[in-house]
Amino acid sequence: MTHEDHEKNRAAWNHMVDLHISHPEYRTDEVINGGSSLKRIELEALGDVKDKQLLHLMCQFGLDSLSWVREGAIVTGVDISERSVEVANEIKQKAGLEAEFIRSDVLDLIGKIDRKFDVVFQSYGTHCWISDIYKWAEIVAHYLKQGGTFFIIDEHPANVLFLWPEENFSYFATEPERTLNPTDYCETETHIDGELVEWQHKVSDIVNALITAGLTIERLDEYNYGYYKLGEGWTEMDDHYWLPPGGPTKFPIMLAIKARKG
Ligand SMILES: C[S@@+](CC[C@H](N)C(=O)[O-])C[C@H]1O[C@@H](n2cnc3c(N)ncnc32)[C@H](O)[C@@H]1O
Repeated sequence: MTHEDHEKNRAAWNHMVDLHISHPEYRTDEVINGGSSLKRIELEALGDVKDKQLLHLMCQFGLDSLSWVREGAIVTGVDISERSVEVANEIKQKAGLEAEFIRSDVLDLIGKIDRKFDVVFQSYGTHCWISDIYKWAEIVAHYLKQGGTFFIIDEHPANVLFLWPEENFSYFATEPERTLNPTDYCETETHIDGELVEWQHKVSDIVNALITAGLTIERLDEYNYGYYKLGEGWTEMDDHYWLPPGGPTKFPIMLAIKARKG
């Protein structure tokens, strides 16, 4: 199945990838030269991944995927953008690491990989691109071994209400947000050709989708700082998270969920 709006996003992401490769917020050279792009929260949440089969959904050009390889995992990365997969393979070669990268819409993955994983991982800017959160959760559950772990760290769905009150977003929006020729979130002066389509998923939807798919929620955490520069005056902390000028926010910016199959 090809999802028309996901295909619009694919075209936009093919453009955005090239804006991100050498942007300082993506630490590409660091990963090529032996470092890691993983952050504290996911490292603490997943612990020892040595020899574990790890499926990284929506991996862009694979910096985190390759960093999990450095932690000892056997990694498969998936992304809808062919340019992402191409660049991921180039970086993999430069870094001298082993990983498999597959181009697929996350919702069309079944049939493209025929094994199960100890860990399914997804991070920092992903759930907003998924049109059907219940189908997504089924795919996460499908690819987990019995007893396997799912971990997602991402935008808190409520943060837009506080970060951009002038936009009058609804937490309960059911129609996607469409932006024609949006600016890139790193190269904020550069406009992307085409349309970006983003979906709002309430925390309850994400949690209920995972429960409905048969997962057991082990932890849900909320954070009052971000993972990229969300506005003027935001500063990067030593651990690569970002704080606004006034310090930690009074509202949640990130959300993490750890769940287990069975
Ligand atoms: C913000 S990145 C998240 C990954 C990582 N945190 C990063 O910044 O590199 C979002 C990624 O999701 C991918 N993506 C968007 N829609 C997708 C879909 N339907 N299926 C698979 N990947 C998708 C995009 O191509 C992009 O690489």
